[in-house]
Amino acid sequence: MLEVRGVEFTYRTGGRRVPALTGVDFTLAPGEIWAVIGPSGCGKSTLLYLLAGLLRPTRGEIRFRGGPPLAHQREIALILQGYGLFPWKTVRDNVALGLQIRGVPPAESRRRTEEILATVGLAEYGDFYPEELSGGQKQRVAIARSFVLEPALLLMDEPFSALDALTRERLQNLLLSLCLSREMGTVLVTHNIEEAVFLGRRILVMTRRPGRVAAIVDNPDMGQEGYRASAAFLARTTRLRELFRDPEMGGEELGDSGGDAGG
Ligand SMILES: Nc1ncnc2c1ncn2[C@@H]1O[C@H](COP(=O)(O)OP(=O)(O)OP(=O)(O)O)[C@@H](O)[C@H]1O
Ligand SMILES: [Mg+2]
Repeated sequence: MLEVRGVEFTYRTGGRRVPALTGVDFTLAPGEIWAVIGPSGCGKSTLLYLLAGLLRPTRGEIRFRGGPPLAHQREIALILQGYGLFPWKTVRDNVALGLQIRGVPPAESRRRTEEILATVGLAEYGDFYPEELSGGQKQRVAIARSFVLEPALLLMDEPFSALDALTRERLQNLLLSLCLSREMGTVLVTHNIEEAVFLGRRILVMTRRPGRVAAIVDNPDMGQEGYRASAAFLARTTRLRELFRDPEMGGEELGDSGGDAGG
């Protein structure tokens, strides 16, 4: 569904060239979740912008369903590192906006919006404005807004990093069930090893800038009942943690060492 072939990207700003990505290759099948993990500044967000069609590769090629991804393509939803909410719209209207644009009938739009708000724990906040919410609540609105569209390709940039451990786990479970039941292909950028292993059918590990693919870790047990508490899960997170100790990989720069183990 999504093919990335020999992709390089170099930022050019004010006469300066900043190579951000080089030699990125992978293929994502429909409904598959890929986790992208790597040190800060290694090009993870850049990769998502490329996949969303907001940037064009300097070299190489990206194909989504046969053609280059186009910005604002209906089948692609992108959740950015910030929240991207409209401050003048209520929580409910922020979530429903994409459905409206897509011409979903109002009754159905209302039903789906209330359903997803309840799922992310914001059933009582439909009438609130973004400025009246906490950071974690805003993030949940941003997540709800993308989930409700059920896109074929969901691109998420550290969507759960600002959340408390319990909310994060609930949203991870929700993402997992939505992706698996609705064949929603997902690229999830994270700096959290547990999150990558819990959600990524494949885990794309990047080196520090210019980001190269250091490894693609197959994670066949992902999605199985009880995986988070299993020995296989612990073994895989331990292996990834060891990989990141390599100075080439950024050493301790990943930023999740000593973080909460809940993933
Ligand atoms: N608009 C820009 N112009 C020039 N250089 C940029 C621009 N945006 C990003 N970069 C550079 O490209 C590199 C990759 O940036 P990117 O935002 O993709 O990193 P990241 O992996 O998402 O980092 P983080 O984990 O901190 O979010 C960085 O080193 C940064 O300096
Ligand atoms: Mg980033």
